[in-house]
This record gives sequence, C-alpha cells and structure tokens, in this order.
Amino acid sequence: MRLDRFLAEMGAGTRKEVKKLIAGGSVSVNGSPEKRPDTHIDPEGDRVELNGVELHYTKYEYYMLHKPQGIISASRADLRSRDERCVVDLIDSSRKRELFPVGRLDKDTEGLLLITNDGKLAHELLSPKKHVDKTYYAELDRELSPDGALRLEAGVDIGDERPTLPCSIRLLEPCRILITIREGRYHQIKRMLLTEGCTVTYLKRLSMGPLELDESLKKGEYRPLSEHELSLLKDPMSGSSAHIQQ
Ligand code: URA
Repeated sequence: MRLDRFLAEMGAGTRKEVKKLIAGGSVSVNGSPEKRPDTHIDPEGDRVELNGVELHYTKYEYYMLHKPQGIISASRADLRSRDERCVVDLIDSSRKRELFPVGRLDKDTEGLLLITNDGKLAHELLSPKKHVDKTYYAELDRELSPDGALRLEAGVDIGDERPTLPCSIRLLEPCRILITIREGRYHQIKRMLLTEGCTVTYLKRLSMGPLELDESLKKGEYRPLSEHELSLLKDPMSGSSAHIQQ
C-alpha cells in the first residue's frame, strides 16, 4: 500500500495533508525518515511513525450508532442520489466509503445500529440461521392484550411464506412493550403488531445479540465498539450468556 494512503486511512489527514506531512519529514518507516508519498509499505509488517508515534494498522472499523429518526439505514453505495443522507454520513471516518450498517432499521426507528466495514462479521450477525436476538422498545396506539402477546410470541402469519419465529414480549404499560425477535424481516415488528390491530407509533432498538445501546450516546452520536463488546460479538461464548444461537 502507498505510504500516503496508509496515513490517510489511519486518520492522519486527507491525502493532500499527509503528502505535506511526508514531505515535511514527519514520517518514518522502520526507523528511517521517508519523504516519498508513493513509497510502498506493508501495512501489517512495516513500522510507520508519525512524529515519533507508531500508527497501528486497523483494517476494520466498528461503531455503535444511536440512530436518530429521519435518516435511512444504508451505505453510501446503496444510495441513488448523492444528496440523500444515510447513517454512514454520521460517522467521521476515512473509510466512509467502505462502511455499512449491519441490518436495517426503518427511517422512523431509533436506537442501536452497528456500522462496520467487516463483511464477515455482518454476515454472521445477519445470517437467518444464527437467530441473533434483537430487542426493541415499542409504543403502540392501543393496548396489546396478554392473549395477543401470547399469539405473537408463538409466531404469526404476516403474509410471508412462513410465520414468524417465536419471540418474547414484555408488557410494560398498556401501550408500551419490549419485544425480542430473532429474525430481521422487513417492517417485522410493525407488521406483527398490526395482526393484533396495534399500530407502532414509536420504535427503538435496545440491543442486538450481546451488544446493548450505550444510553450515554445521544441520538445521532456514535462511538467505536470497546474491545470487550467486539469480542462478545465475535465470540458470544466469551460473555456471560450466549445470545447468538446456532
Ligand atoms: N421492525 C420494524 O418494524 N421496524 C424496524 O425498524 C425494525 C424492526
């Protein structure tokens, strides 16, 4: 990889800015000053320092976003128009073009969204076979009866080929529920509740597998996942409980 690209990807600046840093003698490769931006380096083998501080190569980025309403869950590549804004636009990263949301939340749904460029992990989390639990808080326009909750929990016909998989529901107050589903069908929760005559008026995702929304994040804010969160996602058995079922 070119030295200037490496530095830009590691967040040292734009391509133009890092070229200036290199020309100015701020960068060394394996202990020797390097002034040519097109020098090829091995990002995983060579030691690159900027002003004496080593830059460690990270190929993958993982962010927890508190998705606000009104913005679509898509990557830049998914968008038809350049003017449309998507969740990835909320992330300040030199790898923005590679980033995508893991799964989709409706435009009017808020809450936890994982954003990454790690396709393998995304595949693991989204695979229908893995049954990753997703818990949502929902507000309804009318009360969901205990019997209605039981019917939804057992699995319900929402007009797809198959009924929904069993889920779990906690009735909090007459029109407020917590619902945990193991699939990710289009508008799934809204469609499930409609079978009981309830319209979802507010929906927020609280967790996905072992990952829980950090409530200190305001809507629209994000942060990188901690090492612990990442290890739980990659190896759920390393946590206290396994949320990804095979
Ligand atoms: N179910 C829905 O209906 N909408 C979402 O955004 C997520 C799950």
